[in-house]
Amino acid sequence: MTATETDQTTGRRCPRCKLRYDGSTVECPSDGSPLVIDRTGMTLGGRFVIEMLLAERRGTTTVWLARDADADTDVAVKIMSGGPDDEHRRFVRGARLASRIDHPRVNRVVEMGSTDDGEDFLVLELLRGSTLDRVLAERTLTLSETLKVADDLLDALEFVHWRGFIHRDVKPDNIYVTITDDSVEAILADFGIARGFGQPSPRNRVTQPLKICGTPAYMAPEQITDGQLDPRADLYGLGVTLYRAISGRLPFVGPKHADYYRQKLFDTAPPLTFGLDSQPAHPDVEAFIRKAMAKNAADRFADARAMMAALATLRSRLGET
Ligand SMILES: Nc1ncnc2c1ncn2[C@@H]1O[C@H](COP(=O)(O)OP(=O)(O)O)[C@@H](O)[C@H]1O
Ligand SMILES: [Mg+2]
Repeated sequence: MTATETDQTTGRRCPRCKLRYDGSTVECPSDGSPLVIDRTGMTLGGRFVIEMLLAERRGTTTVWLARDADADTDVAVKIMSGGPDDEHRRFVRGARLASRIDHPRVNRVVEMGSTDDGEDFLVLELLRGSTLDRVLAERTLTLSETLKVADDLLDALEFVHWRGFIHRDVKPDNIYVTITDDSVEAILADFGIARGFGQPSPRNRVTQPLKICGTPAYMAPEQITDGQLDPRADLYGLGVTLYRAISGRLPFVGPKHADYYRQKLFDTAPPLTFGLDSQPAHPDVEAFIRKAMAKNAADRFADARAMMAALATLRSRLGET
């Protein structure tokens, strides 16, 4: 599909200080941030009108609020500009894969395409909640909120795994939550580094040998060591997410990468406490979360479905239905 873009030469803009520069400047002269092409007002795919920058990463990926002129709804458009080839291939692979997952708990892909100058873009359903990361920067979740988030994410993961994919980046930043007085809903997003399983080791493919994909704190030990992954790696990411949601802390916080990997591979996570006032968590809740984040995949739940069943038992035992 080709895109119709109006006014390609609007120039660039600093995502931090918002100042505009001409198209030939690539770095902000005042704060050094990589400038992003200002796409406000452009139309992609003949239908998505870019309205505002939502997020930007290292100048290569930008996420924009846009209007879907056909459906008359707001959407999020993620654009991959330049960047190393493997990052680019990963973006396309993640986008293709996400477009094959249609589930109410997964961020829906509306369309994929490329712009006239060959940049790939992905149009996503606009998520209106906050990322769990933003919520956790303010407060911890209550037990019942945590268990509902777990339930929604297991629902999503069970489907993703059934389709033959591993997300590989389950963490609060890729989870959107909408919390009201009487309801909590979570959605899994960002399939940027997802891949199929039962394929040859990623070392020979887009993912390079010494380049670890994913966020260290939430990555399963086998994601750090030999790269042989199965869906249980996502259960580990979910386990660490739940540990942090309840306690406000990560299980391992080594000051340097090396310490941190050693702790993750060999140490036992400190006892799970509720919130920052450090009340011990209910032993059944702790056992549930510890099982998800067991170092050995074989000691985790067998799959998302088994973890969901254990969660249902736990919720009814605690009267949290
Ligand atoms: N569907 C969406 N709706 C609203 N905002 C989004 C959406 N997808 C991404 N974003 C915004 O873009 C940021 C980065 O998106 P993400 O897909 O996690 O990419 P990456 O982690 O690769 O930078 C998010 O933290 C959020 O602010
Ligand atoms: Mg992300």
